[in-house]
Amino acid sequence: VTVGDNDYRPDFHFTPQKKWMNDPNGMVYYAGEYHLFYQYNPNESVWGPMHWGHAISKDLVNWEELPIALYPDNLGNIFSGSIVVDNNNTSGFKSGSESPLVAVFTHQNPENNKQTQSLAYSNDKGRTWTKYENNPVLVNNDKADFRDPKVSWHEGTQKWVMVLAVGDEIMFYTSSNLKNWVYKNSFGKNVGAHGGVWECPDLFKIKDANGQETWALLVSINPGGPNGGSGTQYFLGDFDGETFTSSQAETLWLDYGTDNYAGVTWSNEPNNRNLFMGWMSNWSYAQNVPTYSYRSAMTFPRTLHWEKNNGKSIIVSKLPTEMIYAIGGKVVENNNAGSRFELLNDETLGEGKFYLETTIDFSVINEAKIEWGNKSSSVVIKYNKIKGELILNRAESGYKFNNLNSNILKCPYVLPDSNQFKINMLVDKSSMEIFLNDGERVITALVFPLAPFKNLEITANEEIQFIEQIKINKLSK
Ligand code: FRU
Repeated sequence: VTVGDNDYRPDFHFTPQKKWMNDPNGMVYYAGEYHLFYQYNPNESVWGPMHWGHAISKDLVNWEELPIALYPDNLGNIFSGSIVVDNNNTSGFKSGSESPLVAVFTHQNPENNKQTQSLAYSNDKGRTWTKYENNPVLVNNDKADFRDPKVSWHEGTQKWVMVLAVGDEIMFYTSSNLKNWVYKNSFGKNVGAHGGVWECPDLFKIKDANGQETWALLVSINPGGPNGGSGTQYFLGDFDGETFTSSQAETLWLDYGTDNYAGVTWSNEPNNRNLFMGWMSNWSYAQNVPTYSYRSAMTFPRTLHWEKNNGKSIIVSKLPTEMIYAIGGKVVENNNAGSRFELLNDETLGEGKFYLETTIDFSVINEAKIEWGNKSSSVVIKYNKIKGELILNRAESGYKFNNLNSNILKCPYVLPDSNQFKINMLVDKSSMEIFLNDGERVITALVFPLAPFKNLEITANEEIQFIEQIKINKLSK
């Protein structure tokens, strides 16, 4: 079988038409459009001199790629960063009647790898960008890794706050005009995972179901992720405009899969959601996956929420399901599926794109398995209640792209007293995003099947009625 790039190009995830992409950058909503910028090498399908690619969407599913927004210049390549809407024109960059967009990004000098922070602005809805004449605005204090500014407006202090990844900690800076930055504090020395360099931080307020608020700090780390290579950890705590504090003792992961990295949230989101998107790959193998004309996709957008779970604060991630229903037609629904569920050579899965929702009752069984694939290969998810562990096995899923030695992804999870185990899973041509019990755990993983997966089977360690409900939505644009 020869499988071409487009057999793997996902339908419901952003990919660049051509060449290499990594981190999402500068995600901002402005004048009716969701903007997505991204780390982009227009010359090759591997990492190289970084630019900011650009795409816009009205519905977060259909994306229109626009011309490259930021090109390398004499200060260096354009690494990751963020964009804010400068409503009070604190920067003085406004030239028309609307608020300017201001990008804050890292300049990387390719000769010595020195990293500094710089600005660019747009007064035409993000279509063209002017670099600030006095760049850089924040220079490196000799630390090698000094990058990925995420900027937001802090109401309490009426100042801009920048979170910056520096080595394996986060530094906080403030500014009144986006041009002059003052160092305030650092976070991270004695907490969290430190198996690699810290990158792409994000800081935001997050609400629980009752509307109560706390602060979240996301930190990507590479290597040192929960299943090898790249991963994203987070901290919940307090932020007073200058200092982030957290009493969290454990390392918490936003995603247990190998393929959700450098993700941050949208700025100026119109519905006040913490709307998140990550790069759906892993530095351990991203440049070797079997697509050649282009490389990498973004995750589907997710919303992040705060939840107290067995007395512990966690972030839960949810798929905006209304968006998924909009791209799917419901084809299979079974409210009493019983002791086994099977689709063989089924048209619902025929194009390898579907959205599955199922609820399993673990009061009558100890282990359940969901497997989908074809005659020669498959992906298996297994949950064992006694071990308190979910395992995703992609070792026999098709093309062997994975040099990470992490084809078996493990995710610790203890069931709630209800014994209910609910899975929501979005499967596109070369990815799966699995949400367990309304986003208490998430696993995002790539696979490159050699033929479409047309079979799906849900079984348990006992022949007893254990499936409470199943819905499968066939997805099509
Ligand atoms: C994260 C990262 C960032 C950096 C960018 C370079 O994946 O390493 O820290 O800004 O990619 O492309």
